[in-house]
Amino acid sequence: MRARALIFLGAPGAGKGTQAREISMRLGIPHISTGDMLRDAVQKQTPLGLAAKAQMDAGELVTDDVVCGIAAARIQQPDTANGFILDGFPRTLRQAEFVDGLLRQGGRSAPLVLNIEVDPALLFKRLTGRRTCPIGGHIYNLYFSPPKNDEICDLDGGKLFQRADDREEAIEQRLHAYEQLTRPLVDYYRQRALLKAVDGNRPPEAITEEICRILGDA
Ligand code: AP5
Repeated sequence: MRARALIFLGAPGAGKGTQAREISMRLGIPHISTGDMLRDAVQKQTPLGLAAKAQMDAGELVTDDVVCGIAAARIQQPDTANGFILDGFPRTLRQAEFVDGLLRQGGRSAPLVLNIEVDPALLFKRLTGRRTCPIGGHIYNLYFSPPKNDEICDLDGGKLFQRADDREEAIEQRLHAYEQLTRPLVDYYRQRALLKAVDGNRPPEAITEEICRILGDA
C-alpha cells in the first residue's frame, strides 16, 4: 500500500482503537487517536483537558475547532510522512472537510476509510465491559477478553478502571452523537469511492486479517 492516511470510522465500541493499535504496529505508522489525546489532556489537567472533561464525561463531542487544532498539530509531525492512522477523527462533516484540506495542503493523496460495522447490541456490551490498566494502558473486556484475576491487569498488576464515558447514560449520548453527526461521513466517503466496509462483529484477529487484505489490495 502507498503511503496514505487511513481513517478508522465506526460507532463507539466498534473496535477502532483495538484495530488501529494492531495495524499501526504492523505497518510501523503512527496511530493518532483524538480520544486518547483528549483523555491525556484531562489526566494532566491542562487548560484543554479542563475545558473538554465535562463534554467527554457526558458523552458529547468536543468542539470542532478544539479537535481540529490538536489533530492538525499531530498530523503535521514528521513521523507521519509514510502514512498514519486516524482513530476517532474526523467525526463530523466539518472535521472531514478540514482533513481533506490538510491532506491537500500537505500534497498527500485522499485517505482510505475503513468503516468498522458492528451490531448495536454488541456495541453496548463492548463499552460497558471495557476496562483499562492505569499503568500500561492495556485494554480488557469483562465479556470478551477478561483478565485472569478480577479487574487486575495480567501484565503489570494494575487495578483496572472503567472510563467515565462508559457508564450507561453517557453511552446512550455517545451513540446518539454518532448517529446524528458521524454516520453521515459514511456517505460522504462512499460517494467519493474512498470507503471500505469491514465486518466488526467477529473476533479481533479476523478483523485485523480482513483489514490487512483490504490494505494489500489498495
Ligand atoms: P474516543 O476515545 O474516540 O471514543 P469512541 O469513538 O467512542 O470510541 P471508543 O474508544 O469507545 O471505541 P473503539 O471503537 O475505539 O473501540 P475499542 O477498540 O476501544 O472518544 C471519546 C470522547 O472524546 C468522545 O465521546 C468525545 O467527547 C471526545 N472526542 C474524541 N474525538 C473527537 C472528535 N473527533 N470530535 C469531537 N470529540 C471527540 O473497543 C471497545 C471494547 O471492545 C474494548 O474493551 C475492546 O477490548 C473490545 N473489543 C474491541 N474489538 C473487539 C472484538 N472484535 N471482539 C470483542 N471485543 C472487542
